[in-house]
Amino acid sequence: MRYLCSQTRNMAKETEMNSNLPHFTDSKSFSLDDLVARTHNFHESPYSMETLGHRKTLGLLFFNPSLRTRISTQKAAQNLGLNVMVMNFNDEGWQLEYEDGVIMDGGTSEHIKEAASVLGSYCDIVGVRSFAKLKDQESDSAETVLQGFINHAGVPIVSLESCLRHPLQSLADISLIKAYETKSNPKIVLTWAPHVKPLPQAVANSFAEWCTTAGYEITIANPEGYDLDPQFTQGHKITHNQNQALEGADYVYAKNWSSLSPYGSVSSMFSDWTITKNKLELTSEGKFMHCLPVRRNLVVSDEVLDSRQSLVQEQAKMREYAAQAVLSKILEQSL
Ligand code: CP
Repeated sequence: MRYLCSQTRNMAKETEMNSNLPHFTDSKSFSLDDLVARTHNFHESPYSMETLGHRKTLGLLFFNPSLRTRISTQKAAQNLGLNVMVMNFNDEGWQLEYEDGVIMDGGTSEHIKEAASVLGSYCDIVGVRSFAKLKDQESDSAETVLQGFINHAGVPIVSLESCLRHPLQSLADISLIKAYETKSNPKIVLTWAPHVKPLPQAVANSFAEWCTTAGYEITIANPEGYDLDPQFTQGHKITHNQNQALEGADYVYAKNWSSLSPYGSVSSMFSDWTITKNKLELTSEGKFMHCLPVRRNLVVSDEVLDSRQSLVQEQAKMREYAAQAVLSKILEQSL
C-alpha cells in the first residue's frame, strides 16, 4: 500500500511537470496574435529561422491517415533545421494500453507510460494525431491518446488533430482570413455539408474556438440535430437555415460533422446542403474554405472548388507556415 501511495504521488508529480511544458493543443496554448504573425512571417520568409532546430528532433506519430498534416509539418520542421521522424502508429507500432493498473493479458502489448517516455527520450518535440472514434462521447472527450503523451513523454506535444480539436488547421485558417482581411468584421459562415460517413467534430469545433479567440463572431449553419458542443460555439450565432446564413457572407467554411445525439450518427444525407454555385451567389462574393480532403460534388460542387473564390489550396499551403510558427515557438520556449 505504501508503495502504491508513493507511486501515485510520483505519477501526480510527473503529470504536473509535464503539464508545464509548452504543449500546443488549442487556441489558448500560445498567444494567437504571435502565432498568426509568425505564420505570416514564415509565409514571406520560410528560412528566416533555418538553424533554430539544429540538432533537435521532431517525432510525428499518426494513429490515423494524413496527407497535409504529415507533409506540411515535416516541411515546416525542415525549414527550421529540425530532424524529423515519422511513424504510422496503427500499422507499425505496438497496440498501446492507456489504463493504469491493468493486467495486460489482452490485445495490448505496450503501456503508454513506456511508449511515450521512450519516444520522449529520442525526440525534443512529439506530434500526435488521434481522431475521435465516435463510439463513446465520454471516452473521446477524455482525449486519452493525446493526454497519454502529454502526461508521459516529458517533452512538448503538438496536436496534429485530436478527438476534439485540429489546432494546426485552425491556425492556418485564421492566418489566411487575417491575410485576406479587407474589413475588421468579416461575415464568416461555418456550414455543415453532406458526407457519406460520420465524421468527427474536431475541425468545426476548433474553427469556432479559434474564431472566438481571434475575436470573430461567426454564423454556424447546420441541420437540426447537428449542433456542435456549446463549449466551442458559445458567443457565435447558430442557425438551421443555410441559405439565410450564406447571405452576405465573406467566407464560407464547409465541413461535415456527425451528430452528438445519438453520438457519432448521421440520420440523413441532407443533399441540399452541398455548396453549389447558386449557394455561393447568395454571399458577398464570399471565399470558399475547406480543410481538405474534400469529396467533390458531395460537400462542394466542382464549379465552386475550381473557381477563383476557392481558397482551399492556399489553406493547405498555409499549413506549412502555421506548423512552422508553432514549432518555432516551442523551440524558443524550450531553449
Ligand atoms: N486538413 C488535414 O488535416 O488534412 P490531412 O488529414 O490530409 O492531414
